[in-house]
Amino acid sequence: MVKAQFRSTVFLFLGLWLAPNAYAEPIPTPSGKYNVGIQRHLVPFINKNDPTWPNEVSTEYLVTLYYPTPDEAAEPSPYIEPELAQLYTDFSGWNFSHLTSTMRKDASFLPKPAGPTLLFGPSGWGPSTDGDGILLSELASHGYVIAALDHIFEQPFLRLPNGTGIYGLAIDFNGDLEYIQALHEVRVREMVHFAGFLPKLAAKLHAPFKTDKLGAFGHSLGGSSSLNAALETDKIAAAINMDGTNFGRLNTTSDSLNKPSLLLGFDGHTPEIDDTWENFFKSQKGWWRLFTVTDAKHNDWTDMAFWKKWGTTRPLGAIDGDRMVALRNRYVKAFFDEHLLGKDDAVLDGPSEDWPEVNYIQGNQ
Ligand SMILES: *[C@@H]1O[C@H](CO)[C@@H](O)[C@H](O)[C@H]1NC(C)=O
Ligand SMILES: *[C@@H]1O[C@H](CO)[C@@H](O)[C@H](O)[C@H]1NC(C)=O
Ligand SMILES: *[C@@H]1O[C@H](CO)[C@@H](O)[C@H](O)[C@H]1NC(C)=O
Repeated sequence: MVKAQFRSTVFLFLGLWLAPNAYAEPIPTPSGKYNVGIQRHLVPFINKNDPTWPNEVSTEYLVTLYYPTPDEAAEPSPYIEPELAQLYTDFSGWNFSHLTSTMRKDASFLPKPAGPTLLFGPSGWGPSTDGDGILLSELASHGYVIAALDHIFEQPFLRLPNGTGIYGLAIDFNGDLEYIQALHEVRVREMVHFAGFLPKLAAKLHAPFKTDKLGAFGHSLGGSSSLNAALETDKIAAAINMDGTNFGRLNTTSDSLNKPSLLLGFDGHTPEIDDTWENFFKSQKGWWRLFTVTDAKHNDWTDMAFWKKWGTTRPLGAIDGDRMVALRNRYVKAFFDEHLLGKDDAVLDGPSEDWPEVNYIQGNQ
């Protein structure tokens, strides 16, 4: 209570200086040379056995494109849809509705591709891909194009391109294993579909996006979906799983991706406690690495690491939010730079003096 009062006094003083936008605060500024554009599209796709849709058949999913643009940065605007911010405020006691970004909606494309295209899958039932906007805009500022895929009626809240808001599962949804396995298969099929659909979308938008040698990455259920999609299609050349237990074919077979992969875990998330990771590493014949982060918990691998600065850290780790954001940006970009652009980065080869909280657990090649 005392702390809250103190805080609002501080805000009041700042308000005198920062008026008229007294409560706005930017998310970390992307470090690359490009400004970032963003746009949303619905992708038609019949996906059967979808546990979250009426009649268990979904007919479309949402893609949000993050891309480098020659346009000027936009005026600061809320970075998270207000309905989604409210759900997390109600759930975790956070209040981060004042966070803004300068990504420009429907911005122009560069005349030529500036980097590879990456597919991104979010956590199971939240946050939606908007809740990874800090990482995705960082990568786009360096020339990457990111197609972030959101599964409708699963994510707690999504804004469709026509402005309609759609609520999905509760943030604290508690599905049984069978339900989550079905959801995982739906996600994998969406990602594999999008890998094939991308050239059509790029042609329709006259967008000079690279449509081959894709990267795939995601958090939790989206991380496992990324690795499994990389197993299903050769259009994906390299993949990252941020802290997700492996479901699906990767858990039930001993197939090798035969392409580079990176696993990033919370403090202590190693093959000793996760059989699905043990199985994965035993079978991989390509380049792979596993790093964990001291004092990080599962959701610190999303923008929640940053959100926790405006409320309780529960259920996140003790690691500083800005530090975690910087670390996640650094390792994800290093992996795609190395494996899609051929720029070797020593940070991936073992312990790093600059990142002492990052634990190098295991690797191959
Ligand atoms: C959240 O913060 C905004 C200003 O940043 C304030 O207007 C609003 O009342 C706060 N909401 C809650 C639930 O504290
Ligand atoms: C917006 O799009 C959704 C999904 O296609 C559709 O169901 C809804 O009717 C649309 N709403 C408006 C106002 O056009
Ligand atoms: C992985 O497979 C094992 C053995 O069939 C099973 O017991 C476990 O529930 C599976 N895990 C997941 C996450 O699908």
